[in-house]
Amino acid sequence: MHLLLTNIKELLQVRKDPINKVSGADMKVLPTIKNAWLLIKNDVIKDFGNMTEMPTFDGFKHIDCKGKIVLPSWCDSHTHIVYAGNREQEFVDRINGLSYQEIAEKGGGIVNSAKKLQETNEEDLYTQSEKRLLEVISQGTGAIEIKSGYGLTTEAEIKMLKVAKKLGKKHNIAVKTTFLGAHAIPPEFKNDKDGYLDVVCNEMLPKISEENLADYIDIFCETGYFSVADTNRVLEAGKKHGLQPKIHVNQFNIIGGVQAGVNHNALSVDHLEVLNDNDILALKGSSTMPVALPSCSYFLSIPYTPGRKIIDAGLPLALATDYNPGSTPSGNMNFVVATACIKMRLTPEEAINAATINGAYAMGLSDTHGSITIGKKANLIITKKIPSYGYLPYAFGSNCIEEVILNGKLM
Ligand code: NIG
Ligand code: FE
Repeated sequence: MHLLLTNIKELLQVRKDPINKVSGADMKVLPTIKNAWLLIKNDVIKDFGNMTEMPTFDGFKHIDCKGKIVLPSWCDSHTHIVYAGNREQEFVDRINGLSYQEIAEKGGGIVNSAKKLQETNEEDLYTQSEKRLLEVISQGTGAIEIKSGYGLTTEAEIKMLKVAKKLGKKHNIAVKTTFLGAHAIPPEFKNDKDGYLDVVCNEMLPKISEENLADYIDIFCETGYFSVADTNRVLEAGKKHGLQPKIHVNQFNIIGGVQAGVNHNALSVDHLEVLNDNDILALKGSSTMPVALPSCSYFLSIPYTPGRKIIDAGLPLALATDYNPGSTPSGNMNFVVATACIKMRLTPEEAINAATINGAYAMGLSDTHGSITIGKKANLIITKKIPSYGYLPYAFGSNCIEEVILNGKLM
């Protein structure tokens, strides 16, 4: 189907010359066209411009966008949406005074989700995860990264990645998959972390790579989970199988993981709720994207990633949800964008850049996603009638989305 959008109040993130990310002061700039039209042919953006210069088009389904804003779909570069059950009880335990770390030490947390997932068959896991994918698509997400890491056995890790791949195929949405076998130490290996890492590197990785199930390699580099030495080992092994690193670092403690990520040419380093000047220095001049996950900070009541400081240091920043059962049971990118403005002091322009083009970069998709550029995927959000784009983060609890278009199709 071909679509023609007319009378668009404002078309956001218009990049005639393709860029793959924006950094520092450039993040304050969000190029737009007011009173715009946009033409979609099949699944791509064919052309766009100002209404005063619109050529005549025949044979297109027409959508009048009067009073509405159009922007590229959100690019969510960090999620764990394939999981089984939920961890509502741990949420209540935290309200009653336990910390996230204390819950994990008592056998809750990631290993709790792994137990549930191991007991869930592939079909059921698919059905549970599909519900989440459909929800985030309706909330404007048009490309998504999905991690494993709630399996913690070869069989269960493979099951997760297969479900993630199947979701992308069935729903025709760009899905990038990440192998996160080193997410936690399973109880069977409680006193034998190296033994578990042997399984991750010598058993899981070769199988996953042989079946082409992952694009990236990840590890939870954190006190009580995996050290910098473990990180070096796993990333090295992943790279041998052609997987670029995207890692969990600096969520609770600074142990040198950011520098390790940069040394391994990580595509992104994610979380960064705690960050020091050496970390910022390490990121400077690198091609590694810092990724903030403000919904995780919100849900766990932990510090917010110093996004303002990161951008003011001249670095880029991407925003993602971290949708998972333990630390962030929400995949709403609209909330992420608003929270980045409210709690991290990003301007609306910076937050929208971080959630579109920089998110696309953090999952290797900026050639096809993340901006209004001729030839890129027609993945778009059409808002309701709103006063201006700043209203999106301002009205943080409202649903401002009227329609979403995925690969040229109205959803
Ligand atoms: O990104 N921090 C590590 N992993 C996930 C949460 C894991 C969980 O609690 O289930 C995260 O926050
Ligand atoms: Fe995560």
